[in-house]
Amino acid sequence: MEKTALISGAASGIGFATAKLFAKEGADIVIADLNDTKKDDVVASVKSQRNGTEAIFFKLDATKEDSWIKAFEETINVFGKVDIVCNIAGIGVFKNVEETSFDDWQKVIGIINLTGVFLGTKHGIINMKKNKSGSIINMSSIEGFIGDPNLAAYCASRGGAYASLLNHPPCML
Ligand SMILES: NC(=O)c1ccc[n+]([C@@H]2O[C@H](COP(=O)([O-])OP(=O)(O)OC[C@H]3O[C@@H](n4cnc5c(N)ncnc54)[C@H](O)[C@@H]3O)[C@@H](O)[C@H]2O)c1
Repeated sequence: MEKTALISGAASGIGFATAKLFAKEGADIVIADLNDTKKDDVVASVKSQRNGTEAIFFKLDATKEDSWIKAFEETINVFGKVDIVCNIAGIGVFKNVEETSFDDWQKVIGIINLTGVFLGTKHGIINMKKNKSGSIINMSSIEGFIGDPNLAAYCASRGGAYASLLNHPPCML
């Protein structure tokens, strides 16, 4: 049976590339992204990777818990289950500590790069427990290991994703 992958940030960049690769490998895909401007093209491109692959677009705001809840509801309505969650949505703010505004900090740390990963992980666990198996792939960065002076909030957010969210014991599911 095909696996179903829900991928945040899948409308562009690494998320889009991941969606196409998973489709090629035989998964059905939920392309979950805030940016829906090219959704028809993105869905068509993902579906074209393999004969029989199904793909849908869901307008996800990864910073909002109710949006994640609806994304999982939609995934299960359409595909019956979710097997893989990839938390790839993220933003970068190229500023040092002095230049970083409080709003920049809140947006990068509190909203997208950490909160979004937390919410996707939490609701991924809740929904995949029902299958007794599943995979969660959280995108971080080399910038989570090193201190780049011009990426103050970004480094903190990616380090937080490593430290707090990548190390769930396998028994969680
Ligand atoms: N590009 C790199 O060199 C690099 C290196 C290491 C890690 N990363 C990480 O990889 C991820 C993707 O990076 P990318 O370069 O492909 O970026 P990108 O800007 O091409 O893609 C990010 C996607 O996330 C979406 N997004 C932003 N805010 C969102 C929200 N609130 N809800 C849902 N979707 C939202 C955007 O619409 C976009 O489609 C990021 O988490 C980034 O930190 C990137």
